[in-house]
Amino acid sequence: MDPNETVCFCNDVTRGMIKDAIESGAKTLEEVQEATGAGNACGGCLDDVQAIIDELS
Ligand code: FES
Repeated sequence: MDPNETVCFCNDVTRGMIKDAIESGAKTLEEVQEATGAGNACGGCLDDVQAIIDELS
């Protein structure tokens, strides 16, 4: 995976930032949203954020 790949374009959140949030203890979509800001605007990236959580946890 490319850690610099942008997942959430609204809030400029990359895969690496989501990975860091998971490694810091975020387990649910809500916790990752809270930690990174991903998915807090249009919501269009939420499926992708969830897919990364599924992949890494
Ligand atoms: S792309 Fe993530 S909230 Fe819009």
